[in-house]
Amino acid sequence: MRTRPLKVALLGCGVVGSEVTRIITTQSADLAARIGAPIELAGIAVRRPNRVREGVPAELLTTDATALVKRGDLDVVVEVIGGIEPVRTLITTAFEHGASVVSANKALLAADGASLHAQAAEHGVDLYYEAAVAGAIPLIRPLRESLAGDKVNRVLGIVNGTTNFILDKMDTTGAGYSEALDEATALGYAEADPTADVEGFDAAAKAAILAGIAFHTRVTIDDVHREGLTEVTAADIASAKKMGCTVKLLAICERARDGRSVTARVHPAMIPLSHPLASVRGAYNAVFVEAEAAGRLMFYGPGAGGAPTASAVLGDLVAACRNKLAATTGAGESAYTQLPVSPMGDVVTRYHISLDVADKPGVLAQVATVFAEHDVSIDTVRQQGRSQGLGGDTNDGAADAPGGAGRLREGGEASLVVVTHRAPDAALSATVASLRTLDTVRGVASIMRVEGE
Ligand code: HSE
Repeated sequence: MRTRPLKVALLGCGVVGSEVTRIITTQSADLAARIGAPIELAGIAVRRPNRVREGVPAELLTTDATALVKRGDLDVVVEVIGGIEPVRTLITTAFEHGASVVSANKALLAADGASLHAQAAEHGVDLYYEAAVAGAIPLIRPLRESLAGDKVNRVLGIVNGTTNFILDKMDTTGAGYSEALDEATALGYAEADPTADVEGFDAAAKAAILAGIAFHTRVTIDDVHREGLTEVTAADIASAKKMGCTVKLLAICERARDGRSVTARVHPAMIPLSHPLASVRGAYNAVFVEAEAAGRLMFYGPGAGGAPTASAVLGDLVAACRNKLAATTGAGESAYTQLPVSPMGDVVTRYHISLDVADKPGVLAQVATVFAEHDVSIDTVRQQGRSQGLGGDTNDGAADAPGGAGRLREGGEASLVVVTHRAPDAALSATVASLRTLDTVRGVASIMRVEGE
């Protein structure tokens, strides 16, 4: 084994950085044996050096991150600060001074991954970021290396633990969104400002990274259609249950059937309870990868937290150190297909639409005609009566019944729940716009896609 150590600098020492430091210092002998040379922590850049950080050597702390990455003797820089700047500049500087970079920064990779990969290649160093997507779950390396000989057609997953916790809570307790969010905040899953999670930005960044690697093309966060879960109601969850489904915030990356384009999207969707993603509970993540030769693969585990994220960082650190020792680099960016990213309107899927309608003869036919006019085929229709005098009675199947027992009293209001066959999103949007113009449609209560069938 080489005795001269590989020098590693750490940018950021919060929850993840402290855990990375702890593993590097407490497992140094094992890491050295696996790499073939010891690791030496050369410095740790932090904003608040006086904060108590158990197990972190105080003499390594510095507030001058720029000077640290400019030292010129670093082998690897580990970045766990997050955000775009100053991190982008620090990483660029690290590359220029010959260091490989291990990053957990999904926002930066999803915004500017192509340029960072190009800079790493130019300077003959590595850029690794397993921890940027789904915490501890090995996903980037399997997609980039293990599946490099296969053709991935679809990546479908739960990549945000906070929102999965909220939806799981709503599903299991009947709680509304705000109540479930409050619990997620109290338990430390949701940040004080939960926008990145609940509005889907975090999942969209991860979807962009996954789509680019899976389809060997370039996808940025701006290419990802994004809808958060703030509009999901307890009624949506109850409606999903009636269909034998649950609601999940999904990241879905697909290659078009003709192979000429890809799509990437994040939105809440109903999935059948029989689908393996339906049983992903709490703050866990899980990702389905569908490849032509491999078939369907599922990756499951903790998607956030200090220790799980540090595990992914350490895996990358060992790989980057091994490459440094061998004076080589690992696989870089593969974007040769140059597939365009199609807009959401081209996505073909199924829909669950809940309408508030006048409860009188001919309304169902009117609604069905609008669907037909837009070439959207209806799979099932369910009517839930809310007619005055019926006390919120539910009357499943009554929509098609020509009077008789259980028929709702005319002149009131009812909820119509329509589930469609597969149709383009643009056709569905046009259908909903037309439905809104009908006098008999008092409102569109919810529209949710149905996936995983
Ligand atoms: N906030 C993310 C989550 C973890 O809840 O999954 C970091 O990406």
